[in-house]
Amino acid sequence: MALPQHHSCNKPILVTTLSLLILALTKILYPQLYIKFSLTLVVPLAIIYYFFFKSSTSTALPPGHFPFPIFGNWIKVGNDLNHRLLASMAQTYGPVFLLKLGSKNLVVVSDAELATQVLHTQGVEFGSRPRNVVFDIFTGNGQDMVFTVYGDHWRKMRRIMTLPFFTNKVVHNYSNMWEEEMDLVVNDLKKDENVKSKGIVIRKRLQLMLYNIMCRMMFDAKFESQEDPLFIEATRFNSERSRLAQSFEYNYGDFIPLLRPLLRGYLNKCRDLQTRRLAFFNNYYGEISEENVLYIVENINVAAIETTLWSMEWAIAELVNHPHVQHRIRQEISRVLNGEAVKESNLHQLPYLQATVKETLRLHTPIPLLVPHMNLEEAKLGGFTIPRESKVVVNAWWLANNPKWWKNPEEFRPERFLKEEHGTDAAVAGGKVDFRFLPFGVGRRSCPGIILALAILGLVIAKLVTNFELKPPSGTHQIDKRIISHVTLRVVL
Ligand code: HEM
Repeated sequence: MALPQHHSCNKPILVTTLSLLILALTKILYPQLYIKFSLTLVVPLAIIYYFFFKSSTSTALPPGHFPFPIFGNWIKVGNDLNHRLLASMAQTYGPVFLLKLGSKNLVVVSDAELATQVLHTQGVEFGSRPRNVVFDIFTGNGQDMVFTVYGDHWRKMRRIMTLPFFTNKVVHNYSNMWEEEMDLVVNDLKKDENVKSKGIVIRKRLQLMLYNIMCRMMFDAKFESQEDPLFIEATRFNSERSRLAQSFEYNYGDFIPLLRPLLRGYLNKCRDLQTRRLAFFNNYYGEISEENVLYIVENINVAAIETTLWSMEWAIAELVNHPHVQHRIRQEISRVLNGEAVKESNLHQLPYLQATVKETLRLHTPIPLLVPHMNLEEAKLGGFTIPRESKVVVNAWWLANNPKWWKNPEEFRPERFLKEEHGTDAAVAGGKVDFRFLPFGVGRRSCPGIILALAILGLVIAKLVTNFELKPPSGTHQIDKRIISHVTLRVVL
């Protein structure tokens, strides 16, 4: 493990510099006094002050690469700080390490105990979200919920959103509608000749289904088809927003404040998109006038649809590559339900189906580093000092895929959740939390959509597996998991 870094405030350096300046001036103005003055007064004072002050204010930062001036570690580590790269860096630097990206601090947490600290024990201290110029545009300077700092506004938004979206009653009331939308998918697949022969890319159809599920919940309205111009516009707006917000293109202006003026063109593009996007949400669903409500819609578009869609795609890919899992799900359903249809209300009787959902979220954690957290004030973590306003990420993927804690973690094996991991649940409020498995985060900023997402995933897998045999595209034996978003799926009736 690397040694901790030390930092101290700039004061001792200032004092030392001033002392040297006084010495230089003395030498010029009173050369006869110079040696005496320097030996008896300035040098000892500066030395004493430097060491005393340094030792009293220096604090141990988490370990990490040595930072270069201005750029910090950015040039060395590059832009793509994905969960796998960060997991490999954790092997060198340990469970908490610090990277300096220009003027910004990135703290990476890679073990369950420290994750508990960040998300739960010190949930208030680390409960904010880092901001940057691009996110400020897309969130109207933090008027939303997902990316806003911890405080009154966040509390209010979470309260407003809970009743219409995040209660068991909501799940219960809407599950028939969800099933209706899923049955439409099954019917469309059955009608499509290509499905049986070559196979189809299923993503677009599932995407329409999820947009319709969320739109019916929010506005009691839905899109006609994949060709519906409104659907095309909505998906285009959202994917352009994701591209602009997640791009590495603006890192230089974000990390190095001096270069920010050069970002003007990029930021104008973001502003223009956001204005058109909000007008789109507003125009077509006219009763929305309150800014709060608008950002709730915005957040559902950002947080709910793609995450659930990715999970579905991964689940399908793994089911195709593991036909025996499909077989076991079918067996469980027919044994337990005796010909009765799978419903939200009987999902709890199907532990193998639920284990399949969990295993998908473990191996393919949709938000592997969670949504970044931030500490408004200087904080302590694992004995280290975390400078104020650090971006703190928890590597949830690594917690769920570290061979130290999981048996053959690279294997897709739902059975693990019925055997050695039978007590492990995705952290649900009120339940026992296992901090090795946090696909939805945990604590104050955890995903409030967890109950919807788990039910929707369980239902859609059950529907697909009971209606079809899921196969790889003709001429192949496996789905290539590196190209998951272009996956062609062949289903056999
Ligand atoms: C498989 C699907 C999903 C996954 C894996 C997922 C995961 C997450 C994660 C990891 C976070 C951040 C937790 C943290 O920072 O500690 C989050 C936040 C959030 N999610 Fe989800 N989510 C999913 C589906 C949904 C759905 C369906 C909704 C809404 C209907 C939703 C709404 C939200 C909101 C509003 C937040 C922000 C909470 C806050 O900042 O206080 N998510 N989600």
